This record gives sequence, C-alpha cells and structure tokens, in this order.
Amino acid sequence: MRYDFLVETYASERIKVVSVWAEFRDDDLEVRPNSVDNRGRSVREQMVHQCVSEDLWFRNMLGIDIGETILPAKETRLEFIKKYAECSGNRLSALQQKDESWWEGEAQFFDVGLVEVARTDDLGEGEAMKVVIEGYEIALVNLGGGEFRAVDDICSHAHYFLSEGVVDAEERSIECPKHGSTFDLDTGVPKTLPATAPVATFGVKVEGDRVFIEVED
Ligand code: FES
Repeated sequence: MRYDFLVETYASERIKVVSVWAEFRDDDLEVRPNSVDNRGRSVREQMVHQCVSEDLWFRNMLGIDIGETILPAKETRLEFIKKYAECSGNRLSALQQKDESWWEGEAQFFDVGLVEVARTDDLGEGEAMKVVIEGYEIALVNLGGGEFRAVDDICSHAHYFLSEGVVDAEERSIECPKHGSTFDLDTGVPKTLPATAPVATFGVKVEGDRVFIEVED
C-alpha cells in the first residue's frame, strides 16, 4: 500500500516512546527536569500527557477510537509502559487496516468540540492547572464537590498565568499571581483592579474521572 511508510512511522514512534520511558525509574516520576520552570511537566505528567494527547489526536483528527481506558490504574513506570504499549498497539492495528482512500481523506484538525484534558484527581480541590488545547492555554480549576471551571490562562491585564494564581473556592474566583486581580470563574469577569477586561470561559464536563473542556471552532 502506498502509505505503508506512515504506518511504519507510527510503529517506530511507539517503540521510541516505550524505549525512552524504560530509561526512567519509579523514583524519577515526580522529577521536573527543569526545576525552575513551574509550568514544565514532571516525568509522570509527561507520561499522562502522551497517553491522553495521543488518544485525543487519533479520536478527533483520525476518527480512530480504540474505546479503552487510556491511563493505567496505577501510575508506575511499568504500568504506564504496559498501558501505552497496549493502546498504541491497538491504534497501530487500526491504521494497518486502513486503505489508500482513507489515507487520502481529509483530516479534521481544529474542530475539536469536547477535549479530554485531565483526570479528576490530577488536581486537588481549590487548585488550578494549565492545560493546552491546540496551543491555546487554559486554566482548569477544581472548585471541589465535582465542580470544575476553565478560563483563559492568560490574565487580561498582562501576560501572566492565572493557573499559577490562588483559587478561592468559596468566592468561585482566582487571583492573578502578578498584580492580584481576581476573576469570577463562572463569568470570567474581573472582580478587582487592575484588570478591567474579562477572560474567556469554557464549558467543562466531567464523566467519571475524566475531565473535558468544550472548545468551539
Ligand atoms: S497581570 Fe494579572 S493583574 Fe496584572
């Protein structure tokens, strides 16, 4: 088949991922290689990201949904390797069954709709984290009681990240770490100066332990 080289590329890429993960030990999982960059991922977070984002690309862009749990129940190096090997193996099988006309079809890149961004226990109650969808930075906030909110991660006052700010779950707001403006997490409207413009808000959906953000075209 004319596009076998693409299938072979994925086959070698998945081996590369597993080979790199095999270099780590369990004790390395919480290590943040760039210790001065709070936004840089730890080894464990990168493994989660690889599992989640690869599933996302295949489902949303290629229409290949392997219909499985994509993260290991226990987050150890070996369990990540086994789960990723299983899922990527099933994706590879799906690719091997596609004919030339499928490879020549149009892929949907940015019409993302619901995007899975985290698991509920990835952030504690009253915490925020940055998630990135198609390069767009979003602050995901856990208000507690199963309620999550998502707003633009960039403060409307200047270029600082709200995901690094303090969440007030009772007030349902987040405080910018730079100059202290607080933003209503339901509306994105600033409640205190110096910010005067609202930040964008996004719908959030929780299904079981999976957290999705709604992104429009
Ligand atoms: S950058 Fe956020 S309040 Fe100034």
